[in-house]
Amino acid sequence: MTSTLSGDPRLKSVDRAIKKNGARGDALLEVLNTAQESFGYLSQDLIRYVARELHVPLARVYGVATFYHLFTFKPKGDHTCIVCLGTACYVKGAGDIVAALEAEYEVKSGGTTADGRLSVTTARCLGSCGLAPMLVLDGAVLARNDANSTLERVAVVLDGTPAQEAD
Ligand code: FES
Repeated sequence: MTSTLSGDPRLKSVDRAIKKNGARGDALLEVLNTAQESFGYLSQDLIRYVARELHVPLARVYGVATFYHLFTFKPKGDHTCIVCLGTACYVKGAGDIVAALEAEYEVKSGGTTADGRLSVTTARCLGSCGLAPMLVLDGAVLARNDANSTLERVAVVLDGTPAQEAD
């Protein structure tokens, strides 16, 4: 695939949802929902990927995605932090990470700061439980975080330095 998605680890959870729901009538909705949870929004590349993998016409995917208001096609804030709240991440403290972000930036999970600089969302298992607690900051997958390291990393990104992936 020659898109910006090539090799993106967040596709793992999308692929899992495709495998799990592929034959079901409501697969498209489920898969789009998982895709949005994993990426924060539905990019054109992601919509094309889902259409191709589910063997559904692109127009139908756009039709469903635009019909339901829960889907969004642009990242909301300038920066996006997605915290995995799947079981493995949760038991290792992902809830504390969300709470710390909400307190520090006065934003509710699923929302964007008043200045539009940071969106914070949560996702179910992102498919890399060995990296728990994990988060995706502006597309960079960050492993084994805690509240303090997350706040530090987010502050660096808000200062204009791209997130550095670490294993
Ligand atoms: S529970 Fe977070 S990656 Fe699986």
